[in-house]
Amino acid sequence: MSQRAPRSGRRARTRTTSSPRRAGLPGRWQWGRISTRTRRKDPGLGDRRSAARPAGPLRWAVVVVGGGLATQLAGCGRTSPSTLDPHGPGADRVARLWWLLFWISAVVFAVVTVLVLVALARRRGDRDTLVRRGGGEALIVIGGVIVPAVVLTAVYVVGLRDLRALTVPAHTDLTVEVTGHDWWWEVRYPDQGIVSADEIHVPVGRPVRLVLTSRDVIHSFWVPQLTVKTDLIPGHTNTTWIQASTPGTYRGQCAEYCGLQHAKMAILVVAEPADAFARWLANEERPAAAPTDPLTMRGRLALERNSCAACHTVRGTTASGTLGPDLTHFGGRRTIGAGTLANTRGNLGGWIINSQTVKPGNRMPPQPLTPEELQALLAYLESLK
Ligand code: CUA
Repeated sequence: MSQRAPRSGRRARTRTTSSPRRAGLPGRWQWGRISTRTRRKDPGLGDRRSAARPAGPLRWAVVVVGGGLATQLAGCGRTSPSTLDPHGPGADRVARLWWLLFWISAVVFAVVTVLVLVALARRRGDRDTLVRRGGGEALIVIGGVIVPAVVLTAVYVVGLRDLRALTVPAHTDLTVEVTGHDWWWEVRYPDQGIVSADEIHVPVGRPVRLVLTSRDVIHSFWVPQLTVKTDLIPGHTNTTWIQASTPGTYRGQCAEYCGLQHAKMAILVVAEPADAFARWLANEERPAAAPTDPLTMRGRLALERNSCAACHTVRGTTASGTLGPDLTHFGGRRTIGAGTLANTRGNLGGWIINSQTVKPGNRMPPQPLTPEELQALLAYLESLK
């Protein structure tokens, strides 16, 4: 009765998709589907259904697989650190586990794909009439139960072994405390009395214990080329460790969404040969260098007399605030605002005048300095190596 004028969309769709031959679609593999809306808009479409675009599942598959691949590949830039480019024993373990899982998945995918293609090629009947061939129970038990159970158990055991190896801190005499703030990292070397920010220096080839906590919300410490993620939790300490096997600067990133500027919460791990690390440590232990010329002297006064001193500490001056990063050796650091900008004079000037334009929502208010004060302050901060 409704062959010529379908009343409901459900009925119309059922007919076009469940019986391609009856609908005049060519070939066995035609997945074409014409929506009721399209047909209503174009009453003359009736017998031209075969010209419809391949739609439905195929198009969605392309969108989902393409979108997924694009999202994954977007993270493969040369500047973004990769877990698959390990530079330490912890990250080595992660990379090996990743490749193991990758190859197991690839083999399983290939085997299942071959079985699906064989099943399609050897099937009897069409979509409407399924013919039971019988048998195959042994294949289902072996391939569907025994093999997956063995593979998953083996992967689980390997994963547990690696998890244990990564979370138990290695024996080491060097400890660094890292405290997460919205949105920067406080870095302390408690045994040396050093306070810094957004940059951890470590000696190459030596494990370093990291004691992690947070001052506000949950953050997560992650340096893909050196170690796995570990959360920084308010009121609680987590311990992990890092070790770099080659000198270099490794970028880390907060890996737990922590608010507006979560994405601009990066940390650098600078791995140096033992002697360079010892020099860095000895320099950081010293208070800030005293100004040696009139310009940097005015800069220090500007820092002490303006609101900078309320939030920042510069050891050796009257600035002793603790809300923001310690600036005692700020001139030696590579970035401003937890990896937001390179530490250059131009960037620093813009940051001081109004950091909200670069990192909206951070705690540092705009600083109404005169141009002379700003230039002097920049010269002073640069001198704090
Ligand atoms: Cu801190 Cu995300």
